[in-house]
Amino acid sequence: MFFERVIPKLLTWYQQEKRELPWRETLNPYYIWISEIVLQQTRVNQGLPYYFKFVDKFPKIDDLAKAEEEEVLKIWQGLGYYSRARNMQKAAKMIVNTWNSVFPNSFNEIKKLPGVGDYTAAAIASFAFNEAVPVVDGNVKRVFARFLGIHDNIQSSAFQSTVFEHLKEVIPKNEPASFNQSIMELGALVCLPKNPKCESCPMADYCIALRENLQGILPVNKKRTKIKKRTIHYFFITDENENCIIQKRSTDSIWGGLYEFPNVDNEDLIFPNSLFSEVISLKEVNFEVPDKPVGITTHKLSHQNITAVLWSLKSTQLVEKEYFKLVESSSLNNFPLHKLMLKFVEWLEKPKINNGTKII
Ligand code: ADE
Repeated sequence: MFFERVIPKLLTWYQQEKRELPWRETLNPYYIWISEIVLQQTRVNQGLPYYFKFVDKFPKIDDLAKAEEEEVLKIWQGLGYYSRARNMQKAAKMIVNTWNSVFPNSFNEIKKLPGVGDYTAAAIASFAFNEAVPVVDGNVKRVFARFLGIHDNIQSSAFQSTVFEHLKEVIPKNEPASFNQSIMELGALVCLPKNPKCESCPMADYCIALRENLQGILPVNKKRTKIKKRTIHYFFITDENENCIIQKRSTDSIWGGLYEFPNVDNEDLIFPNSLFSEVISLKEVNFEVPDKPVGITTHKLSHQNITAVLWSLKSTQLVEKEYFKLVESSSLNNFPLHKLMLKFVEWLEKPKINNGTKII
């Protein structure tokens, strides 16, 4: 196999150049699992504090299994894709209740856990249990496509299978963990998406993209998703005692389980009074209608570009209903909040009003 001839050089490079990372110092599958789920959400530097917070708060899988869901979401706050955190807790409960708190120890068993796909199962099985199964993530696919000069779309499942099957043949049985880490590390440090550092690449001698000057063209990466534009109006409604209304998002939606102000989608940036009647939790609330929002901001998700408008409404009396919570405005930060809500709380804590409206 073509890849095989560069493996010794790749492994030597890895031993010399690898970053010291806490999840590389452990064989504990639970910690490795946490690191891999965090790293699906963010880069290593941003992921490190989340990893430490998670491990500190839930040092054993039993701690995660018995935690309140809101505690888990609070630790995850800011990482996005909250279903990942909820799935982790579901998986932890499964391991504790069904497998007596013993982490499954093979690729096929690990894959049965909720929220665990081929990549994560391969990472845990190889790093914690030395199983010779390759990891195929974005970094690995980029290295592979460039090295072998493959023009297939790396987002396709056919390409994913090609890489998996090829690497399964060549992965060294005696050191699968280092092999997997080394390709990912090469993608993270050398074979960068833009301006790859080919001069320091241990695989340069045999790299087709380098030989044919195709680094700017490969990998072919055609995203399938269409980005949707949305405008969402959020309502910060307070009473005379500085209590405000928040509601919990349903778990089957984006930001599921996190809290937010009542809100409604409407393309109009000018405040339409009729919006209120659309917001279920506002129906029985009296308030003064403001003529300007507190602020407007934008937020990008993988499938959506959101424009978010925050309105501050004063009400004389608010009463808790089953579909919303009444909480002290100063305690908002005790709840798991999504990124837009965190921004809103920041605005509300440090109002910097410019002509009545803060346009961010
Ligand atoms: N990205 C995903 N998994 C990783 C790991 N184990 N080490 C460094 N970066 C990673």
